[in-house]
Amino acid sequence: MPFYDRPAARPLILCAALGLLSFGLGAHAQTSADAAGDEEAIPFALPQSGPFTPAEIDIENNQAITDWFRSAHANAAAEAFSHWDDDGEIRPACATCHAGEGFRDFHGLDGTAPGVVDGPIDVGGVVDCGTCHNEGLAEISEITFPSGLVHPVTGVEASCLTCHQGRAAGATIVAAIDGLAEDEPNAELRFINPHYATAAATWLGGYGAAGYHYDGQDYSGRFFHARPVASCNSCHEPHTLEVDFEPCLTCHEADSPQDIRIARQSYDGSGNTSVGIQSDIEANAEQLMAMIQAYMGDVVGAPVIYDGNRYPYFFADANGDGAIDMVDGRPVPYAAWTPRSLRTAFNWKLVTADPGNFAHNPQYSLELLYDSIEDLSEPLGVDMEDLDLLR
Ligand code: HEC
Ligand code: HEC
Ligand code: HEC
Ligand code: HEC
Ligand code: HEC
Repeated sequence: MPFYDRPAARPLILCAALGLLSFGLGAHAQTSADAAGDEEAIPFALPQSGPFTPAEIDIENNQAITDWFRSAHANAAAEAFSHWDDDGEIRPACATCHAGEGFRDFHGLDGTAPGVVDGPIDVGGVVDCGTCHNEGLAEISEITFPSGLVHPVTGVEASCLTCHQGRAAGATIVAAIDGLAEDEPNAELRFINPHYATAAATWLGGYGAAGYHYDGQDYSGRFFHARPVASCNSCHEPHTLEVDFEPCLTCHEADSPQDIRIARQSYDGSGNTSVGIQSDIEANAEQLMAMIQAYMGDVVGAPVIYDGNRYPYFFADANGDGAIDMVDGRPVPYAAWTPRSLRTAFNWKLVTADPGNFAHNPQYSLELLYDSIEDLSEPLGVDMEDLDLLR
């Protein structure tokens, strides 16, 4: 993300950070007068705790700092970090992934009991250095996922897998729809959001069980890829977070990650195998969304409108006029969920909430989409043969 896209407040902080870089550390010249001599108040978007407080950072860290500073992890203005500003504190349930301080509290790296955030965390935190550079990380040997899976980890992987695992899984859906009639709207049901940037959940595939799994189907497990591609940081530079495309070309021939394809068959019925596997995933996701909408409108008789920019994304359109119903100036969340629409919408959101799905686990993504399409084909009277999809 180029930093010229950033809100106006950012360059100021950047100047402060650059001041830090050129003046060296321990130089407090760039701090505001009332903050002089008070480390806590130095106006950097830099960590306030962990082994990397501004004054402790070595000059050799300049590149890491500069790279990190321009990354999404340091973007204090992002919704993911500023969402709680009006509340003045981050709730424990959210703090683990939305502030380095909360992360350390959750894993007991701050000396408190592990497995729980003890109380609200101050706003203003980002994914700071001490989140990943922390001696305590070495002692974390497993991470629990929303599906209940307990996955063994080593080193810094513990950090990525904690925060990029999402907040709900197929098991959450199973519990919500248990015993309910497949196609009967139930006012108790609400859309279940897998949450965001769920890369680790996609990556672990059927073994991670992030998706809603259909009885009798097998799901591809973790995407092992090929050595030396072994974990998140094999592809993502841990500070810029960007994917360096050059190394991919050792094994792949393509113009961009999105253009990479190994599969020789077409999954989306287009027959086109000259495009990246991402294209098949995208096409099937579109197909699934169209069928979810058709099912809600034609079978359930309660039309829906999807708005990707507004939580909870699915809204009511009772009269089917193509506009979201409003009450008291607020959009009305969709409330005619059936078990079938809830599980298929969950799988759709899980796959599409991960922009790297094609690299994290293309097979698992395709399987979840196919099975969900098949699930809806029955009440819609669609012949799967006609769609010509591959699982
Ligand atoms: C398991 C880790 C985790 C937990 C727990 C968690 N989040 Fe998140 N959340 C994330 C990640 C990762 C993102 C970043 C997605 C992105 O913007 O790329 C995110 C993004 C968000 C966003 C920004 C979405 C957007 O559209 O940009 C909001 C709002 C949010 N979370 C709210 C919450 C709330 C409220 C809670 C607690 C009830 C919570 N989160 C708990 C991991 C988590
Ligand atoms: C999201 C996790 C994460 C965050 C946040 C993070 N780092 Fe790193 N850092 C890593 C990983 C992973 C490595 C590579 C370690 C390895 O290869 O053994 C690394 C390596 C480094 C290195 C070694 C040189 C290099 O670039 O490979 C330095 C120095 C460093 N980090 C400093 C920092 C500083 C300073 C910050 C905060 C401004 C920071 N890091 C934030 C994960 C992170
Ligand atoms: C404490 C929680 C946390 C940890 C640990 C963490 N992330 Fe993130 N990550 C987030 C949040 C929150 C965002 C979204 C930030 C935003 O919207 O600006 C994010 C964003 C990202 C992005 C998206 C970048 C972009 O340009 O949108 C990537 C890639 C990423 N993280 C990879 C990693 C990797 C790899 C690791 C482990 C080395 C890691 N993260 C560790 C919380 C975390
Ligand atoms: C095979 C290489 C590869 C591996 C391994 C990998 N990623 Fe990705 N990741 C990608 C690609 C490619 C994208 C698509 C975005 C791009 O092209 O920059 C992506 C996208 C993402 C995004 C969304 C970025 C955005 O723009 O919103 C996040 C978050 C992310 N990855 C986190 C992770 C985490 C966490 C892991 C480990 C569990 C991981 N990735 C493993 C290649 C990889
Ligand atoms: C060491 C060789 C190697 C490197 C390096 C490598 N890959 Fe791969 N990649 C493979 C192999 C082998 C497969 C097929 C694996 C499988 O299907 O189990 C694959 C599969 C894929 C697929 C799925 C293609 C399909 O049609 O199913 C994508 C996407 C992908 N790689 C992206 C990347 C990206 C992005 C990078 C660089 C960040 C990368 N790969 C680096 C060997 C590699």
